[in-house]
Amino acid sequence: MHEPRRGKDFSQELADMGWYHSFELPDGTRIDGFCQLKWLRERYARFPLPADLTGKRVLDIGAWDGWFSFEAERHGASVTAIDCVEVANFLEIQKKLASPVSYRILDFYELPEAALGVFDFVFCLGILYHLKHPLLALEIVCALTTDTAIVESFVIDPLTWQDHQDEVPTMEFYETDELGNQLDNWIGPSVSCLMAMCRAAGFARVEFLHTTGLHAGVACHRKWEPIPPEAASPPPELLAVANTRTFGVNFSTRKEEYISCWFRTTQPTVTRGQLRLEVGDFGVPALYVKPDEEKGAWMANFRLPPGLRSGWSPVRLRFADSAFGNTTLRIAVDLPLRTERLVLKGACDGTNWNALEVKASDGGFISCWVTGLPENCDRSNVGVYLGETKLRVQYVGEPDPEGMCQINAAMPAVLLGDIAKGPRACRVECGGVSTEAWPLNVV
Ligand SMILES: C[S@@+](CC[C@H](N)C(=O)[O-])C[C@H]1O[C@@H](n2cnc3c(N)ncnc32)[C@H](O)[C@@H]1O
Repeated sequence: MHEPRRGKDFSQELADMGWYHSFELPDGTRIDGFCQLKWLRERYARFPLPADLTGKRVLDIGAWDGWFSFEAERHGASVTAIDCVEVANFLEIQKKLASPVSYRILDFYELPEAALGVFDFVFCLGILYHLKHPLLALEIVCALTTDTAIVESFVIDPLTWQDHQDEVPTMEFYETDELGNQLDNWIGPSVSCLMAMCRAAGFARVEFLHTTGLHAGVACHRKWEPIPPEAASPPPELLAVANTRTFGVNFSTRKEEYISCWFRTTQPTVTRGQLRLEVGDFGVPALYVKPDEEKGAWMANFRLPPGLRSGWSPVRLRFADSAFGNTTLRIAVDLPLRTERLVLKGACDGTNWNALEVKASDGGFISCWVTGLPENCDRSNVGVYLGETKLRVQYVGEPDPEGMCQINAAMPAVLLGDIAKGPRACRVECGGVSTEAWPLNVV
């Protein structure tokens, strides 16, 4: 044992007591552990949870002796508790309480594949600093939470955080046993950093709860606060949503993806903090907002929130002090691209509608009309080929009543390489299926 460079080493005290949590059982038996019952009750009382948790699902990650699991159950919740090791104390209390808590031995990182379902409330208490990948862990928590997660962690500035909360957040990294002489203590965030990481993980808003001793607690909400009863400003008009990288409508939850939204408003300025985007059931904080002068609108970027179900998700936007606008757009999440048969009904020079010749020119483009494209076709998964050359798709239109979509693809400014003057075959590809060729004379 040596003097820890950071935090308190309480391992000997804990070993002597044999219990981390304290308990008071219905038969009057008391177990005095390292955490006094009074502290535990005070901690729980700070969580912004309904007193009656009947019908709610709670996940307690890193439950240890299980006080928080059994307390949530006492409030009526259906509880799943996980820990990376089987804790005999947990099993002993569970037996004494005849508790139906579902107890699973799982590592944090095994949670996404554990098929536990989603939870109204998730407890991530005293575990974040034990993890080498804290942001990944918070994303896992976010994906499992439908309402609120309570995150409590060791922090490096519990007494002073308010003095520097406007500075860039910081986090210490402990390679070995610097924090409390423990080999699995990896990080120490500042309070601001803890809150920023929770937002970056995908929560709509993060509420500071407390600092106590060396720890801080925050409540991470997946939903925005309710719409104010008297909406002060007119809602923004949502014009378009797209994948920031592909400009398409498809998103993958396995990738780091961002949503761009264009909207119009009568307000002279817009800040990030005013925007309340909702994707599916989840609120999403804005990362960036700027005027888009070309479109006479505003553009804002958001993270794809974790935990979206596969399929189409509605997207709508409001301001903090407005209701939602009338427009709801949608994005396709983890939706496979299913194409059976594509028919190219026509192709022409998009600048002059000449169906026989296409001109290479700056701003020139080919327009094609295709049937059979899947609902989630977009600029990044539809290919337009002229001869062997793949052209850059600029636009994929909505299908008309006959299911025909217009696709525009840019012509090169000058004819080089594969695209030479003369007759060329034009075709459209999507989801591994190609149309027949359409003859076009390149001039
Ligand atoms: C400091 S205790 C916190 C106990 C309780 N949640 C509380 O706040 O009072 C940390 C708990 O996290 C568990 N733990 C540590 N690393 C873990 C991991 N990678 N996956 C799951 N549980 C882990 C430990 O076994 C221990 O039960």
